[in-house]
Amino acid sequence: MFTPQGPSLRELTVQALSSVEHGYDLLADKFDATPFRTSDRLLTAVTHTLETLGPFDSGLDVCCGTGAGLDVLRSVCAGPVTGVDFSAGMLARARDAHPTATLVRADALALPFAPVFDLAVSFGAFGHFLPDEQRTLFAQVHGSLRPGGTFAFPVPAPPPVGSRLYWILWGFDATMRVRNALWRPPFVMYYRTFRLPDVRSRLEHAGFDVCFTPVEPLGRRDDGSPRCRLVVARKK
Ligand SMILES: C[S@@+](CC[C@H](N)C(=O)[O-])C[C@H]1O[C@@H](n2cnc3c(N)ncnc32)[C@H](O)[C@@H]1O
Repeated sequence: MFTPQGPSLRELTVQALSSVEHGYDLLADKFDATPFRTSDRLLTAVTHTLETLGPFDSGLDVCCGTGAGLDVLRSVCAGPVTGVDFSAGMLARARDAHPTATLVRADALALPFAPVFDLAVSFGAFGHFLPDEQRTLFAQVHGSLRPGGTFAFPVPAPPPVGSRLYWILWGFDATMRVRNALWRPPFVMYYRTFRLPDVRSRLEHAGFDVCFTPVEPLGRRDDGSPRCRLVVARKK
């Protein structure tokens, strides 16, 4: 999972004992060499799925990090592309890699935008938001989209109960809960707090019409269900 170019165990431990914002500042230079950066395979598959839903004009990548989602926006948006994140370190790396994108340092729970965007995307960041914060986050994205605008993001199918990955994610979340009970500042990162039925109801509460589209390039599981769905939320 981790390569020699990525962070050492010690660096990851120091990061995990920091706040989310400072932790990402510390990790930024090596972030693209970690499995936490959204994979090109997923980004390409989402791009193909979004192409069937466009065209789109201006685009916003929420919690853009080093800019993984900015190329997706470039591919499907005819207009300008913006990334927002609260880590100055991550934004500096995004600026290096995407010199023509507008990059804004802000908390996603208090987005500083007028309702101007046609498409908002987000990758790999929802685990940083507790359920109540997800409601605020969705409302903030809703407020940044023009009427009829789209908020789209992938949600992989949960691992089968009892599978190896199921227990790894369960163990990760349990470790985080213990860490956050014992240590300040908290580092909010949970994998099992983002289930599709909850996501739908939180998006609807924020004022979106919601549908789920299979991300077909990623294939299907043995039971025929998609390995990954794109949540497509349209501002009414
Ligand atoms: C796992 S990284 C994902 C980065 C990128 N989207 C990707 O897929 O590679 C999560 C990102 O969310 C950002 N983040 C977490 N909470 C945030 C908040 N409340 N406001 C803005 N950014 C936030 C972090 O700074 C970090 O860059």
